[in-house]
Amino acid sequence: MYHAGRYGLRLARLLRCLALIWLGSIPLGAAATDIHWLWDDRCAECHGHSADFARSFLRITDNRLLGRHQFRELHLFLGNHYTPERDVDAVYDMLQAQVLTVPRYREECSACHGGAAEFIRNAMLVQSGTLTSRATRQPIDEFMQSHRRLDPQSIEFYLRLLKRVANEVYGE
Ligand code: HEC
Ligand code: HEC
Repeated sequence: MYHAGRYGLRLARLLRCLALIWLGSIPLGAAATDIHWLWDDRCAECHGHSADFARSFLRITDNRLLGRHQFRELHLFLGNHYTPERDVDAVYDMLQAQVLTVPRYREECSACHGGAAEFIRNAMLVQSGTLTSRATRQPIDEFMQSHRRLDPQSIEFYLRLLKRVANEVYGE
């Protein structure tokens, strides 16, 4: 029967160590941008809070996001306006989602939790595709069933919102 001696075990450990170091040194490609961070860093000084800006100045017609100028194609505009090329789609999608989302989070949650993006960065992570509490590791889907006595529609609304913002913060 084969019996790994001490030397064999040590060698195996050493090899595993080297493999981890080697894996760690491979660049994993550019990480996704935190779109809320991007906005706060590059856009907020002129436009203020992103959702307020979106709700006040933008609208959606025929599935297209429009600003004050009816014929301006906002994808093209953003690409020439402070937004890095690789983030144009994500910024466009965020603004579109914000136009479509009523400000309930602000009214019902932010007094205790602050802004949604910051709340998510601090308190939640996405683990194998599931939005999860950093502190308790409980799936947020589960937690929200008994938080604040929300009715099923509100629970659905907030879960959709939190998952969307988590996606904007952490990327896909
Ligand atoms: C230095 C100030 C400044 C910064 C920084 C800035 N913007 Fe703007 N933005 C403007 C001004 C001024 C306009 C209006 C221009 C116009 O209508 O021709 C505008 C227009 C827009 C519009 C179109 C609004 C409409 O009604 O058509 C969008 C969308 C927009 N900005 C997004 C962004 C994003 C996203 C960023 C950051 C990546 C950003 N802006 C950074 C000043 C700024
Ligand atoms: C009166 C204060 C208060 C309000 C308002 C409030 N929460 Fe909470 N929330 C808490 C507290 C305190 C916790 C910590 C866990 C607990 O005690 O239930 C928490 C935890 C959470 C968590 C889990 C975070 C973690 O670290 O695991 C989520 C998600 C959450 N709240 C979402 C919401 C949403 C969405 C709303 C708006 C409908 C909301 N909360 C409104 C006080 C509040």
